[in-house]
Amino acid sequence: MPTTTETGSPWLADRGGVRYTGPTTERHFDVLVLGAGITGLTTAYLLKERGARVAVVEADRVASGATGNNTAKVTALQATMLSRIRSVRGEETAAAYAEHSLRGVELVAATAEELGIDCDLRRREACTVAADRSELRSVEQEFEAARAAALPVEWTEETDLPFPVAGAVRLAGQVELHPVRYARGLAAAVHGGGSAVFERTRAVALAEGNPVRVETTRGTLTGEQVVVATHYPVWDRGGYFARMEAKRAYCVAARVRGGPPRSMSITAGSPSWSFRSLSDQVILCGQDHAAGERGVDPGRYGLLEEFLRRHFTVEAVTHRWSAQDALPYDHTPMVGTYTPVSSRVFVAAGYSKWGLSGGSMAGALLAEQLAGGPGSPVFTPHRVSPRGLPTLARTNAKVALDLVGDRLRPGEAGSAAEIRAGEGRIVRSGTDRTGVYRDPDGGLHAVSVRCTHLGCLLRFNGAERSWDCPCHGSRFDVDGAVLEGPAVRPLERRPVPGTRTTADRH
Ligand SMILES: Cc1cc2nc3c(=O)[nH]c(=O)nc-3n(C[C@H](O)[C@H](O)[C@H](O)COP(=O)(O)OP(=O)(O)OC[C@H]3O[C@@H](n4cnc5c(N)ncnc54)[C@H](O)[C@@H]3O)c2cc1C
Ligand code: FES
Repeated sequence: MPTTTETGSPWLADRGGVRYTGPTTERHFDVLVLGAGITGLTTAYLLKERGARVAVVEADRVASGATGNNTAKVTALQATMLSRIRSVRGEETAAAYAEHSLRGVELVAATAEELGIDCDLRRREACTVAADRSELRSVEQEFEAARAAALPVEWTEETDLPFPVAGAVRLAGQVELHPVRYARGLAAAVHGGGSAVFERTRAVALAEGNPVRVETTRGTLTGEQVVVATHYPVWDRGGYFARMEAKRAYCVAARVRGGPPRSMSITAGSPSWSFRSLSDQVILCGQDHAAGERGVDPGRYGLLEEFLRRHFTVEAVTHRWSAQDALPYDHTPMVGTYTPVSSRVFVAAGYSKWGLSGGSMAGALLAEQLAGGPGSPVFTPHRVSPRGLPTLARTNAKVALDLVGDRLRPGEAGSAAEIRAGEGRIVRSGTDRTGVYRDPDGGLHAVSVRCTHLGCLLRFNGAERSWDCPCHGSRFDVDGAVLEGPAVRPLERRPVPGTRTTADRH
């Protein structure tokens, strides 16, 4: 069977888009927004609409983070989110979440139309599906929670998936789009007229004051207000790291005979299978795990492809990609002031893999709050949700174990010579540990495996060829550059253990 697998999402394979420079002479703005994903760009666009001079500061390129690497469904029916929120925070909060999610969906549709963004936006039905009887109770609970939250859902036993289902909830009129084109459209609307988008500019330190100072890799910027929209908040003055867990998942796109199902479906079990169509292709995402889990290998993609082949006639697998998102212990996004006493620094994060509607609704909430609004009591990051505390305790116990446990383990390879092409392992010399990766040409790349965030030991992710942190999900490439925060500093490069030189390719 011909296979033309590309590494990377179909969204980022779209090479268009303006390239923005780093900061020039203008260095003071009304608002600095850190991060050019859906959250940062929506916030910046809405603030500019209200008359603010805004700068968006992006470490890499517009939409290069989670926003460019997802399934791209914008929906208020989100697997089993409403029943989860209802069980931890009660019916009223679940209803408020559903209402804001719907507003997020409609904001995306209205903004795309207003700005004339060509982003393949289409209305589609969203479904949460019981793939078998073991998932039926969860789907029934989601149906009840959605009805209680006044979402106009329907119950069905018929879907357009190529396998029978035990039951499903469906919500009509939701949205699929090309998320990178949408984000680029927002960036274009922000840039100019006294506002700016800065790419390849990483924020590395923040000092709250009047104005707020942000140190970046391209010098200092100041703002009357700052929004931290870096996905995982990059500084932890609000205790975010203890309250959110990073989870990674994998996606494939494949051309299938007879065309893909057009609904946006997701199964309710764990692991879940999430589907949408992209012209004659089907996109399938799943195989979640805690970020930084040990022993992740390219087999994750194989499992997704095997599932597709079981249910479709696959002509070619065209793309493979992966991403992660932060899951708050009480399932609800955190949107508001950065700390309980902050008056100029704000944050939005924690969308549990539903941030296209979540980041849009967060942008709308923040635009109100920065203009003097009271902030949302439902989404305030400073809430305490007593019924979520057992999850919180479990997450933090795992982090403590990862922090200490890995230090007691022996190295994974006696010497760098044992490491095969494409493999990364930890080599121990004395008390010290070095992460060594051998590239396909045989070159060795060696880095410290101490995470520059809070010092947990990194693990090699064989599916992505990166060093990933089990504590809060920071990721680094094989030469130590930051791929994902909350870390902001690169790993120290090391000599290859047993040699006098730094890694072969340096
Ligand atoms: C497999 C998968 C599938 C998903 N599918 C869906 C879906 O179908 N529908 C849905 O609604 N959601 C989905 N999501 C979730 C969604 O993609 C995210 O919740 C959303 O994109 C988060 O947007 P964001 O703007 O907060 O973060 P990001 O898009 O990650 O943007 C943050 C930006 O900040 C930048 N940055 C980081 N650190 C710094 C720094 N120090 N200085 C400056 N910039 C910095 C990053 O480079 C990045 O561009 C999915 C997630 C995953 C993992
Ligand atoms: S991400 Fe927090 S210690 Fe690594």
